[in-house]
Amino acid sequence: MGLVSNQRRSRTETTHEGLPATISSGGGAIPKKKWSNLMTLFVALVVIAEIAFLGNIDMAKNAAMVDTLADLFYPSRVAVVGGDGGDGGDGDSGLAVMSSVQNSESESCEEWLEREDGVTYLRNFTQEPVFVSGAGQKWNSCSVGCKFGINRDKKPDAAFKTIQKAGASVLRSMESAEYYPENNIAMARRRGYNVVMTTSLSSDVPVGYFSWPEYDIMAPVKPKTESALAAVFISNCGARNFRLQALEALEKANIKIDSYGGCHRNKNERVNKLETLKRYKFSLAFENSNEEDYVTEKFFQSLVAGTVPVVVGAPNIQDFAPSLGSVLHIKEVEDAESIAKTMKHLAENPEAYNQSLRWKYEGPSDSFKALVDMAAVHSSCRLCIHLATTIREKEEASPGFKKRPCKCTRGLETVYHIYVRERGRFEMESIYLRSSNLTLEALKSAVASKFKSLNHVPIWKPERPEVLRGGNELKIYRIYPVGLTQRQALYSFSFKGDVDFRSHLDSNPCAKFEVIFV
Ligand SMILES: *[C@@H]1O[C@H](CO)[C@@H](O)[C@H](O)[C@H]1NC(C)=O
Ligand SMILES: *[C@@H]1O[C@H](CO)[C@@H](O)[C@H](O)[C@H]1NC(C)=O
Ligand SMILES: *[C@@H]1O[C@H](CO)[C@@H](O)[C@H](O)[C@H]1NC(C)=O
Repeated sequence: MGLVSNQRRSRTETTHEGLPATISSGGGAIPKKKWSNLMTLFVALVVIAEIAFLGNIDMAKNAAMVDTLADLFYPSRVAVVGGDGGDGGDGDSGLAVMSSVQNSESESCEEWLEREDGVTYLRNFTQEPVFVSGAGQKWNSCSVGCKFGINRDKKPDAAFKTIQKAGASVLRSMESAEYYPENNIAMARRRGYNVVMTTSLSSDVPVGYFSWPEYDIMAPVKPKTESALAAVFISNCGARNFRLQALEALEKANIKIDSYGGCHRNKNERVNKLETLKRYKFSLAFENSNEEDYVTEKFFQSLVAGTVPVVVGAPNIQDFAPSLGSVLHIKEVEDAESIAKTMKHLAENPEAYNQSLRWKYEGPSDSFKALVDMAAVHSSCRLCIHLATTIREKEEASPGFKKRPCKCTRGLETVYHIYVRERGRFEMESIYLRSSNLTLEALKSAVASKFKSLNHVPIWKPERPEVLRGGNELKIYRIYPVGLTQRQALYSFSFKGDVDFRSHLDSNPCAKFEVIFV
């Protein structure tokens, strides 16, 4: 659940002035009527206070915002939105001041924030692309300027080594950390890599064995014509996990297995693996290590073939399942017997078996789509986006960086300026949320209407199989703060309700989010 909204909403009242007021729902029940009377009185007081101080409003540049209610009563900080323009107008002329106030009132908080928070960053990535020293694989396009190669005259932003003091050191590998301990994220960090690219979804830029174009995942199911229940293709029985013992346990439980690989081989013909798998009800997708997120083509080919994968491997393999009940997992060797029973049951009950493949007819879960869609943007491009984001964040944190207000308070209402981009893209869109409705639901709806108004096309659109592309609607799957790992974003993160979300906005001015559409 990315966006779990709880029932606690701030209630909103609108006074006759059209001035929305937030009443936080923390306290006891204040009768609505009474409160709104109080509000009217309060607004009247504010108006009187403003008029009273019109003559000597401080037009200093940063006096524009009122942060707290108390501030309202201190003349030097009375709200004059957009007071910037009044530099020359701080004379005595009441008229000039009056018109300036009126201008400011015609400018919305949103307009004001758009201007005041606007930033021109030092580096324009179109003119000066992110430069990574080393070979990048082929990729189509990238939403940020991104270049791989060797250029001795230019200091790279990153290199696939731990050399340069400046720039980032990148570790990229698709091997299991069980065999290559240096791929363990903590180990890699200790060795000086600040960007880690491995199969782990907890790494900075995950590189998976999966993508829509690599596997025809929605290929139709073929009739299961083999008498053996399962096929297995393992070249090497030796592995550091229990895959050999699992294979033996299944055999002992009288599961008939055709083995085409070097391990327990009993079929001698050379065959096309994918075409062969299609004829079996089950495929033994036994990895050589049981590592989180380490899921290889053994698994994805089984999905393509429309055979039910029986997995020894990643403890979280169900995160990779196209739907509930579509994957059998031998978590430990002791499970083999009960998995054998399930296999027999499914094999003897065509309807139950067909249920395991239902996703082939009805489409996989949103969770599966969101996972595979990640690979719609090549890992080399995702690396550039990661680096460019880091470069911008560094600039934002530097002392010389423009002080952005990031929120705008008028009367009792504060407007928060936040930024959102689609996962896989670099540039951010502005979104505004009002304190009277500062909820996860409101965030979701603001994101949806923003991207709708831009006629946004999800980045995975050209990649997904035709049958999974859907229409032009934008369905939000997750919204999460920029900087989370994909493991967090897809599986573990969620705001603990609206209160948690609000406190995130309060501690992260101009907060940045990423959205995943499905
Ligand atoms: C960055 O450079 C490109 C190409 O010169 C230009 O079109 C674009 O407007 C620039 N962006 C900004 C924010 O200055
Ligand atoms: C399996 O179910 C789908 C619909 O979910 C159906 O179209 C298909 O014919 C079924 N196959 C078998 C072998 O029953
Ligand atoms: C708050 O936002 C939600 C989602 O956008 C919307 O449905 C609701 O009407 C809003 N409530 C108020 C009081 O504005």
